[in-house]
Amino acid sequence: MIRLAIQKSGRLSEDSLKLIRECGISFISTTSKLKTEATNFPLEILFLRDDDIPGYVADGVADIGIVGQNVLVEEGLQQLSVKNLGFSKCRLSLAVSKGAEYHDVTTLQGKSIATSYPNLLQEFLTSKGVEADIHTISGSVEIAPSIGLADAVCDIVSSGSTLISNGLREVETVFKSEAVLIANQNLDQEKNRLLQQLLFRMEAVQKAQK
Ligand code: PRP
Ligand code: MG
Ligand code: ZN
Repeated sequence: MIRLAIQKSGRLSEDSLKLIRECGISFISTTSKLKTEATNFPLEILFLRDDDIPGYVADGVADIGIVGQNVLVEEGLQQLSVKNLGFSKCRLSLAVSKGAEYHDVTTLQGKSIATSYPNLLQEFLTSKGVEADIHTISGSVEIAPSIGLADAVCDIVSSGSTLISNGLREVETVFKSEAVLIANQNLDQEKNRLLQQLLFRMEAVQKAQK
């Protein structure tokens, strides 16, 4: 039996479940259950918060997982990456209030920026020679400028509708992301064999879609 962690609810959830089904794996999914077993493959599926998935896979609580590169790289666990999955593409971007003055990234010098991705943001700012005051918050980042918590935000943009509805304007791309399959680095022989089977099926699904 191999244990897979996927996002419980969010941008990755639906496409993750779709990929598993396209691999020919059947299971019953109910929104209230946090764990389910496949009926025709030795697979157990855990439904977790995306931010928790890399850590659980690193620790072996889950054997494999599907997560955004944004979360994986932020947590410094990119060594767990096995395969890019090509869905849930998004970008980590800097945004300012619609009416705020902005020329280039140096406009942010000395300003405060709210984000859930302090490491990716710090790396980007350092590469540009900009020093800013990073405020780490775990959610609802886009509200920060309108309540005076920060001058700018750095958060995930997919369709862009969250930015628009919060009166924000995207000004810089910090990091580009997509879903990635990750695996614990000490899988036993049996689990490794199951991972290889899953990878083989995923590759077949991807080829069929081209
Ligand atoms: C991101 C971000 C926004 C949303 C943006 O959240 O925090 O809420 O996606 O998408 P949009 O441009 O299509 O409006 P994410 O899916 O990463 O969820 P999480 O922060 O709850 O983990
Ligand atoms: Mg998140
Ligand atoms: Zn501060």
